Amino acid sequence: MEDRYGRKIDYLRLSVTDLCNYRCRYCMPEAGVAKLPRSGILSVEEIGELGRAAVNCGVTKIRLTGGEPLVRGGIIEICRALSSVTGLRELCMTTNGSLLERFAVPLRDAGVSRLNISLDTLVPEKFASVTRQGDLDGVLRGIRAAEAAGFRELKLNTVLIGGFNDSEIENFVALTREHPWEVRFIELMPMGECARWDAGCFLSGDEVLRRCPELESVGTRGVARQYRLPGAPGTVGLISPMSHSFCSRCRRIRVTAEGRLMGCLHSREEIPLRGLHGPELEAAIRRGIAQKPERHRLTEGGSETPREMNEIGG
Ligand code: 5AD
Ligand code: SF4
Repeated sequence: MEDRYGRKIDYLRLSVTDLCNYRCRYCMPEAGVAKLPRSGILSVEEIGELGRAAVNCGVTKIRLTGGEPLVRGGIIEICRALSSVTGLRELCMTTNGSLLERFAVPLRDAGVSRLNISLDTLVPEKFASVTRQGDLDGVLRGIRAAEAAGFRELKLNTVLIGGFNDSEIENFVALTREHPWEVRFIELMPMGECARWDAGCFLSGDEVLRRCPELESVGTRGVARQYRLPGAPGTVGLISPMSHSFCSRCRRIRVTAEGRLMGCLHSREEIPLRGLHGPELEAAIRRGIAQKPERHRLTEGGSETPREMNEIGG
């Protein structure tokens, strides 16, 4: 279905939990977040029903997000319920990778087609520091497990943070010489935890091009500008919501773990979907698509949502 600005909306990002086993400094408060009661989040059945309704409204791709989707009880059942929805072409997941060693094969078997793995640094001590409790080696083992399970063209998500990982840009880009991965640099968005960070933390994605002038543009893929080192099997993606806003190309809607539909990551408008079924549920989704805002105002007033990133799912 098209929204009122003529954008075709075919991609649903669905948060299955706002909990996470990490506490990335830009995303989560150190103490974590209060656990919503089980009854406060969408059940496996509700997620299956939502998936079917979304596909009836034109969605062909669903990405499961969190928090960390792999800490959600019943995640494999959720994947199975969604991958069996007729008309859904792609079921993807964004994960921090920490539990992939255990989950890569079950996820593949449950019909997940693609994985994005967050990885902000390749230095173990820095990794422990930015995630406040993460273990880099576990994530690297998770990445290998994902490949062994048959996940091809992995995407690695690196949030660019000035003074933290800009010195590693070349090392991340170099990974694309060895692996058929897409290494994606994401501009830090001033929301929640990091809204008040120093200006120096917010880097433009163009910094990657300045540091690696050999990168050649190969077009766009989704919201990313894509580049390649000459002859490299992998690609580099720049996701630049701040410096090169891609709202006019956005095809997404989002649903929070509590079942509230958001037209945009940064919008205040939310449509509660819980308790709705059949035609009512579809009508609410269509209303959400129709109301999708034209663009975010991050560089003007900041994000309009009072929510933290872990509630909406990046
Ligand atoms: N700005 C940009 N990306 C963010 N993510 C979380 N918070 C932010 C932010 N403020 C990213 C995570 C992960 C994805 C879920 O969203 O690093 O890759
Ligand atoms: Fe967890 Fe991802 Fe947030 Fe880090 S960015 S705390 S891994 S949800």
